[in-house]
Amino acid sequence: MIGKILAVDDTPAALKLLTELLQAEGYEVRSAINGELALHSAISNPPELILLDVRMPVMDGFEVCRRLKAQPETRDVPIIFVSALSETNDKVNGFELGAVDFVTKPYQREELLMRVQTHLEITRLRNRLESLVDERTNELRSSMLAFVTAIASTVEMRDPYTAGHQRRTAHLASAIAKELQLPDYLIEGLNLASVVHDIGKIKIPAEILCKPGRLDELEFGLIKRHPETGYEILKSIDFPWPIAKIVLQHHERLDHSGYPYGLTGDEILFEAKILSVADVVEAMSSHRPYRAGLGVEAALNEIMRHRGVLYDASVVDACLILFKEKGYNLPT
Ligand SMILES: [Fe+2]
Repeated sequence: MIGKILAVDDTPAALKLLTELLQAEGYEVRSAINGELALHSAISNPPELILLDVRMPVMDGFEVCRRLKAQPETRDVPIIFVSALSETNDKVNGFELGAVDFVTKPYQREELLMRVQTHLEITRLRNRLESLVDERTNELRSSMLAFVTAIASTVEMRDPYTAGHQRRTAHLASAIAKELQLPDYLIEGLNLASVVHDIGKIKIPAEILCKPGRLDELEFGLIKRHPETGYEILKSIDFPWPIAKIVLQHHERLDHSGYPYGLTGDEILFEAKILSVADVVEAMSSHRPYRAGLGVEAALNEIMRHRGVLYDASVVDACLILFKEKGYNLPT
């Protein structure tokens, strides 16, 4: 089994012996004669395993280990201490710092080689497992998104005028969140919530959804129930994000004037504040049964006029930067 190993020892003869022993087995070995050089070598080109002497001048092996464990590049590289220190205290100290093993000098050649081989195998297995988990998680994620998108499009089929509204709104909401430099995890949840935000419209009669011209009070009352219906549909699904709550709040406005609860400020999730801006901009830009599309300019004027009153100021600013400075276009 070939592997890249970094050997560290301040005694030239000991370092030479260790290096030659490993090279004879076919390992690719780099060596470092002090702690400083070891750190530099390991961080600039992380090996698969480090054999580290403890007693060295200036920076001892424990300190080197501590620093390597603090660096993202070398955090997961297994470290085996090779030292004449044989006190239990020293060994415990080494393990506490994150080392995987402790070999006492003078060592038996065979024993050292077996330990090196075992730890290389464990590390490779662990890395393989981690990438398998990542792979499967990504597969599950994309099938979940595809499934949710399919459900959302089914709802939109009853309402051909707004077909694609949720998908385009999700695209804009995610772009705003990226512009605000929100973490990827949060953006993923926001995207999912945006894709289904009008799912509650499933309960609204199709003739109301497709009605050209103004809605009367009763009809509008039915429309206004869709965030709560959406919440009811989604609340029992155990998403790792507050999807149902984001959907519930997407028509809330900062000044209490929204629905269903007339919330304000911090009572509204930030994701819902982003979704509400994306929703309004997409809806105003597109055609509706009762009016032609008003265009992006009119939509941006609307959010600018109500910046900080109905809509969160930072969200409005990010949305304006996207359209006016970064050439953003809603997808077709
Ligand atoms: Fe809505």
